[in-house]
Amino acid sequence: MDNLTEKVAELSKRRGFFFQSSEAYGGVAGFQTFGPEGAEVKRKIENSWRETFSRGLGHREIEAPTIMQEDVFKASGHLDGFDDMIIECPECGTSSRADHLIEDNTEVEEAESFSTDQVEALIKEHDLECPSCGDSLTDVEVEDFNLMFETSIGPGSGQTGYLRPETAQGIFVEFPRLKEYARNQLPFGITQIGKAYRNEISPRKGLVRVREFTQAELEHFIDPEEDEPDIERVADVELMLYPVGEQEKDDGEYVYATVEEAVEEDIVESEWVAYYLGIAKKWYKEIGVDMDRFRYRQHNEGERAHYATDCWDAEAEVDGDWIEITGFAYRGCYDLKKHDEYSQNDFTVFKEYDEPEVVEKKAVDADMGYLGPEFGDKAGEIKDKLEELARQKPEAFEADKVIVEVEDEEFSVPSEKANFSVEKTEEHGEQILPHVVEPSFGIGRIVYTVLAHAYDEEQVEDGERTVMHLSDRVAPTEVAVFPLMDKEGLGEKAREVADKLRSEGLSVKYDDTGNIGRRYRRQDEVGTPYCVTVDYETLEEEAETVTVRDRDSMDQKRVKIQDLAEHLK
Ligand code: GAP
Repeated sequence: MDNLTEKVAELSKRRGFFFQSSEAYGGVAGFQTFGPEGAEVKRKIENSWRETFSRGLGHREIEAPTIMQEDVFKASGHLDGFDDMIIECPECGTSSRADHLIEDNTEVEEAESFSTDQVEALIKEHDLECPSCGDSLTDVEVEDFNLMFETSIGPGSGQTGYLRPETAQGIFVEFPRLKEYARNQLPFGITQIGKAYRNEISPRKGLVRVREFTQAELEHFIDPEEDEPDIERVADVELMLYPVGEQEKDDGEYVYATVEEAVEEDIVESEWVAYYLGIAKKWYKEIGVDMDRFRYRQHNEGERAHYATDCWDAEAEVDGDWIEITGFAYRGCYDLKKHDEYSQNDFTVFKEYDEPEVVEKKAVDADMGYLGPEFGDKAGEIKDKLEELARQKPEAFEADKVIVEVEDEEFSVPSEKANFSVEKTEEHGEQILPHVVEPSFGIGRIVYTVLAHAYDEEQVEDGERTVMHLSDRVAPTEVAVFPLMDKEGLGEKAREVADKLRSEGLSVKYDDTGNIGRRYRRQDEVGTPYCVTVDYETLEEEAETVTVRDRDSMDQKRVKIQDLAEHLK
């Protein structure tokens, strides 16, 4: 369909799915409000995500603050490395994302993975211009721009804080408490649904690139040497994969494989990532992502986030563009290691051995009574070097003299003054840093995909209709109730039917304005699966039947009011 993006945006604005925020004041790019219909779709997607990825897999959900102190992001690497490439037009001052400028105006793909120098060279080579005023950008410097929103906490100079750029950090920093909660038993998974903030250089396409958005993230903490996913559960799920090797070929193709094959044939390196690709594929299908417009694409090395060792994206196609809706990353022990180093807390887990292990501890107990007078102010450093040598090269102590190097100078220490010894101890376990597997879903982009994939225009008897073929699981209104006309008792009966359905837990819209055809069209546009009409037959019959019209087939059948809720459910 041509211009699907524009059509979905127009319908969303008009029918209350999503629209520019604070438009009364002109609005600021990158902020969108979910209207009554959109907020309901979003809530349903979030609840379904909870069912599948949190409760359904035995994980637990937390809720952490969205503002976090600076130290967190020094440790996580976001202060140093969470940048996009920016180019500012010297003529009109418009800032553009330099890699997007290249992708939008040349055949080059995935320019995000290039260095700033490479991007500058490409802008020169293709003689690119400012998208706003058309001035040449060929000699303009490309710079790194940190995407985090900074704020200050408390009055006065306060303390620097940042709005979290991913919900994940709210889980990682709480790991010392969470491991206690999990009684130090790996594996365990923690989920969180919440807002994340990124000061995007050029927000675009409604919900696709915004500055405030909702993420649903799952951090699965595992022992990489012991824990394996339950691959059986998803072994037969078929995946359409686009590995880096295929992306690099001119005639690269998709690889079709089941989860089991993807693991066995090493197409997906981490079996944990493959496991989640399988679980997620089933979920996308259930909520209405069109599987003919869906793929998993592997990140190339330059594109991967600073924390990831392997990463695949779930991508959905809209108007010929592939939109990243979820990232599946193997984060290793990157985050926990960093927080362990930077904070005063312990981010390791005690791993008990099946059987106690006898270990040899190599140590020195250097004679400072000798080292001090002999080496003066260098004695302390020489002692440290001897200890290091005992751990790394114990055979050095077999000779009469041990040579150590301090600040490019060699010092010779008699072996008996080093007091080298090997002690055997029994150990019952060790402290390990768990690894993290992370599926990270962008809820706004998923809402957008579901809407775009549900959108259709169809020729019907009385003209054309716009219809959202939304899955029953995400349709914001489940049933609409109409009286044929609001007179002669029809309105009262219809209101009674609507109340009865509401009391049964269904989300119901009552509408008595305009002709029935128009009312059907209005509900088709917001994807209401069923419309119920109360007519004269309802009042005349003892059985009290109403017509139930199916959104997709437009077929109608009569159902008794007393059976209606059950029938619709
Ligand atoms: N914790 C990992 C992480 O944040 P990411 O790939 O940067 O990974 C995860 O983000 C998901 O969040 C993306 O797949 C996308 O769906 C969504 N997302 C990221 N930036 C976004 C933005 N500016 N607007 C809307 N959604 C965004």
